[in-house]
Amino acid sequence: MVKLIGAKKVKTAVFISGKGSNLNNLIKFSKKKKYPITIDFVVSNKKNAKGLNFAKKNKIDFKICSFEKNSENKILKILYKKKIKLICLAGFMKILTKKFINKFNGKIINIHPSLLPKYKGLNTHKRAIDNNEKYSGCTVHYVNAKLDSGKIILQKKLKIKKNDTPTSLENRIHKLEHLIYPAAIKRIISL
Ligand code: GRF
Repeated sequence: MVKLIGAKKVKTAVFISGKGSNLNNLIKFSKKKKYPITIDFVVSNKKNAKGLNFAKKNKIDFKICSFEKNSENKILKILYKKKIKLICLAGFMKILTKKFINKFNGKIINIHPSLLPKYKGLNTHKRAIDNNEKYSGCTVHYVNAKLDSGKIILQKKLKIKKNDTPTSLENRIHKLEHLIYPAAIKRIISL
């Protein structure tokens, strides 16, 4: 990843599908003077994604794209035009094509609600509880062509409580996500 010293903030796009609490949190950080990115573009594959309200509220340009067939091409064009240098996936439920990933090689990162390499994919909290895991957590990693398998940037764990349900665990892990996503970005880009 590019290390920037004394340079301008890195133009960043955030891809979402749902409620967008990580998007909102990254927007908050991006407004700090010394934080190394600006959020310049938001993409959702769902037109009703609640997180789009954060883009609207903060006057950030956004697009809705199904990512079916070749529709990603129109997003690629906008990303180039806006000089986006980092893409943060935040609850984005589509798998990007190899072609897309190659075009932004090493510049796409994702947050996943498990201690990768454990529990790639969906229903991570239920699977961790059902397997009697002692710990769970979340991971920020680079995105490559294999699902949830790119190099790990940062990981944080917590103890699973005896009475945890998938929902209570999810809520506690969400709080950790809001700590490690901004920290992981700072780790890979320094102003
Ligand atoms: C988070 O748990 C993230 O780890 C997962 O999807 C969820 C998105 O939450 N990939 P939000 O939309 O950012 O609130």
